[in-house]
Amino acid sequence: MSYNALYSDLSGYYDLMCADIDYQSQSSSAHRLNQIFGNGGKQHLDLACGTGPHIAHLLQDGFTCRGLDINQPMLDIAKQRCPDAEFAQGNMCAFETEHPFDLITCFLYSIHYSGDLDNLKSCIKSAYQALTHGGVFYFNVVAKSQIDNALFAKHSVQQDQDLFHFSSAWHYIGHGEKQTLNVRIDKTTDQQTLTWEDEHPMVALNFDELKTLLAPYFDVHVFEHNYDSITPWDHSSGNAIFVCVKREQNDNER
Ligand SMILES: C[S@@+](CC[C@H](N)C(=O)[O-])C[C@H]1O[C@@H](n2cnc3c(N)ncnc32)[C@H](O)[C@@H]1O
Repeated sequence: MSYNALYSDLSGYYDLMCADIDYQSQSSSAHRLNQIFGNGGKQHLDLACGTGPHIAHLLQDGFTCRGLDINQPMLDIAKQRCPDAEFAQGNMCAFETEHPFDLITCFLYSIHYSGDLDNLKSCIKSAYQALTHGGVFYFNVVAKSQIDNALFAKHSVQQDQDLFHFSSAWHYIGHGEKQTLNVRIDKTTDQQTLTWEDEHPMVALNFDELKTLLAPYFDVHVFEHNYDSITPWDHSSGNAIFVCVKREQNDNER
């Protein structure tokens, strides 16, 4: 069992694993919600940007984009994909920026990579400090109480002589602030199969806890996890999109 081979040694396979993800629609959702709730500015920062698929779309929407990721191999691919964007290696739980941003995004549940609640608090505070007034922090999350350990996503892709099977699943033990994302990659070439299994430590929480962490900094709007429509969260589904609008002053700074 490896820790994060997917984002280091196997980073070249990441886009194959995500081939079924509709990055266009996710990026459009962030753009649309930013048009509604944001301040009209075009400076964008993508936390845990990976190989930069959302940045590619948001550049086309007229944003000036910067990507931050902790794994340089992911950023190397992102820079090739988006030469017009800037990228920096860093931890989203402790980052500072040279200039403020109007929109900060964190897609594909990556905010859970904060790992624990203290680091998540630091991530929220870093995002708050990096935003312009009225700027938007946009991300998606999963509620720990609704994780079904029996569910997993899988798909297969043929690339040249290689057949890939990818699967991923949340795992939550039912108590505490830690969950994992378990990823398995099988690569078969000439009837020989190589297998990698990653176990990614992530922070686990429920939406009420998250709202409490965000409340000192942001006005928080929660939406159903549907990228093609804007529907308020129904208070029962376990996945949601959070749109957090920066307030003038943090209560903690008063
Ligand atoms: C599931 S991928 C998402 C990548 C991209 N946002 C996407 O939607 O395809 C998670 C990303 O989070 C990055 N990551 C993990 N922990 C991080 C941290 N503490 N700070 C910044 N990036 C981190 C990984 O390197 C990886 O690129």
